[in-house]
Amino acid sequence: MLKLSYQVVRRLSVSVHRCHSLETKTHTWPRKIFSGVQPTGCLHIGNYLGAVKRWVDLQNAGEDVTYCIVDLHSITLPQEPEILRHNCLQMAATLLACGIDPMKATLFVQSAVPQHAELSWILGCMTTMARLTHLPQYKEKSAKLKEIPLGLYIYPVLQAADIMLYKATHVPVGEDQVQHLQLAQSLARAFNNRFGTTFPFCEAKVSDDTSSRLKSLRDPAKKMSKSDPDPKSCIMLTDEPKVIQEKIKKSVTDFTSEVTFDPEKRPGVANLITIHSLTSGKTPAEIFVEAKGLNTGQYKQQVTEALVEHLNPIRIQIGRYMDDPNYLTAIIENGCEKARSTAERTITEVKEKVGMNAFSVIRQQAIRRKELAK
Ligand code: TRP
Repeated sequence: MLKLSYQVVRRLSVSVHRCHSLETKTHTWPRKIFSGVQPTGCLHIGNYLGAVKRWVDLQNAGEDVTYCIVDLHSITLPQEPEILRHNCLQMAATLLACGIDPMKATLFVQSAVPQHAELSWILGCMTTMARLTHLPQYKEKSAKLKEIPLGLYIYPVLQAADIMLYKATHVPVGEDQVQHLQLAQSLARAFNNRFGTTFPFCEAKVSDDTSSRLKSLRDPAKKMSKSDPDPKSCIMLTDEPKVIQEKIKKSVTDFTSEVTFDPEKRPGVANLITIHSLTSGKTPAEIFVEAKGLNTGQYKQQVTEALVEHLNPIRIQIGRYMDDPNYLTAIIENGCEKARSTAERTITEVKEKVGMNAFSVIRQQAIRRKELAK
């Protein structure tokens, strides 16, 4: 009896597979954009100009966009619970203040959608330890640790799950994430080959503009980074005008007094021009003409003014959201709801294909068999 039903089930699933292989050749996926950011609290202008501004541009271009605050990724290294929660809230406030519009985009928090962890487990069973050991970010981060948390190791699998749950086709990321996306592509390929077409192969949209390469204000040979021990090395979106002025004034340039754009020989001044250009919308050439006759000190004042004008409304808006956590929570909860409904659909499909949800699938097959027999 049991054997008979098994054969029937087998036949049913074979016919399902046949449909899939046909589908593989003809399937075109709707364009969907997904990206994630760790809840580090506040962002600096490098993160803003290099990543978040692009997210907003994609949203405003009418793309189907989903953005995730990845708190499950954050705990791959130890976090203080209260700080993590606060940083998550502040990241949501920051993204909204930068122009993410909850009416156009889905903005949500990863841990509020349990399917991320669920799909991550399933995908983790489809890759090898050798594949994960060679990823550069893992190598770099684990090299500094005596004991390596397992989460740090499987971090890229969770990232693949993030992308695949929403069947994203395009993923805007920095250069350092490209290899993680290659893992997502190979997991999608492996899953499709084994269980039938389910996932698109996502494509990395790596920004090739200068905005992702803003330099430290204290050492223009280094990238602008929040983890830099010198707080004067970067400008945060929450910096008050006075703080911005101070940081720009103290920024390292060189001993030539006029303003010229020469990233090779004069990286400090070129960095200021890049920041100025990206915040004002003017080209470096326009800025160069305007700055004729100014010395570097006077030019720094101009950069300060452009930055303050651009960042002030964002800082004020972040403050407003942080002062009204109920409103902020309602917006994010709404985003989580939208994300959950998509994630739920994908995980149900995945579990059925992999051979889970045994009882509900078998019940449905029995109903179908009865109908066929009528
Ligand atoms: N790993 C990414 C980073 O450190 C963050 C991230 C997590 C992400 N999941 C993602 C980015 C999915 C793009 C898509 O920046």
